[in-house]
Amino acid sequence: MLTLDRVTKTFRAGAFGGGSTTAVDRVSFSAAPGELVSLIGESGSGKSTIGRMVLGLTPVSSGSLTLDGERVRPGKDFYRRVQGVFQDPFSCYNPVFKADRVFALVRRAYHPGVGDTEWADRVERAVRDVRLDPGQVLGRYPHQLSGGQLQRLLIARALLLDPRFLVADEITSMLDASTRIDVLNLLAGLKDRGLGVLYITHDLSLGTYLAERTVVLRGGRVVERGDTQKVFGNPLHPYTRTLLAAVPRIGRPWTEAAPVDACAYHAGGAAGSGEDLHETEPDHFVACAHLPDCGRTRP
Ligand SMILES: Nc1ncnc2c1ncn2[C@@H]1O[C@H](COP(=O)(O)OP(=O)(O)OP(=O)(O)O)[C@@H](O)[C@H]1O
Ligand SMILES: [Mg+2]
Repeated sequence: MLTLDRVTKTFRAGAFGGGSTTAVDRVSFSAAPGELVSLIGESGSGKSTIGRMVLGLTPVSSGSLTLDGERVRPGKDFYRRVQGVFQDPFSCYNPVFKADRVFALVRRAYHPGVGDTEWADRVERAVRDVRLDPGQVLGRYPHQLSGGQLQRLLIARALLLDPRFLVADEITSMLDASTRIDVLNLLAGLKDRGLGVLYITHDLSLGTYLAERTVVLRGGRVVERGDTQKVFGNPLHPYTRTLLAAVPRIGRPWTEAAPVDACAYHAGGAAGSGEDLHETEPDHFVACAHLPDCGRTRP
């Protein structure tokens, strides 16, 4: 179980480290085993920063982030259980080495006792699982493979460790539509076997396809979160409505989202949760649209 409780990340910014940016501001949500939680929001809203904190690559400034009740402690044991795949596959490969060196590194670090034939079988299986032909991709250099192929090899690499939790940060951004569906279906199968997934995306339709729960972020804060059917079936925050209205549909002109009197959602959770979210129905939380400047109180 992944649990974030008022997790905040502040980066030092500006010349001589004088200023600071709060990239993630008191974010709370959880993801159970076998559950896919999608984290949706515009560019710069703090999605990758949350993913990096879950993976222990960026330290948390305040709040608590735990996995199965324990604080994130990066190291071999931790990465056996938690793996990440990122949006930019190119940065994960050394152009001097063949792409499948990423598998050899996994073997050296985590499975040194596995024999050559057994290992080759496991790699082939993982590569086929991400809908690639081992004969076409193994033994090649990164520049001989497409972005989508490199990205899928990284997914295969993460899955070779059989992790309990996966942070998937825009992993389908380089894939064509049919391969994307294949990868999403692969995730659905893994989820059914108990894998927990934090699925980071700015593509709403992909987020809703598999997610039991959805967290909508804006400017580092959660504006709406909860059961996916409730968040997108009955979106209450204007930002969530705008996101939904922005999904292009054939034959339907783009319309602006109707404003809501979001102050009705202001005071609900403000005092206790520190997150300024109001629970409007079970597992459906929404923030006031005017925060942090809202001077009004709940009617
Ligand atoms: N190492 C860092 N130092 C300073 N600021 C950072 C650092 N990493 C991220 N930020 C800032 O934190 C904010 C959130 O960045 P983040 O990468 O988490 O956004 P994102 O939601 O993943 O965006 P995108 O959809 O474009 O990937 C941005 O304003 C970014 O400039
Ligand atoms: Mg990002």
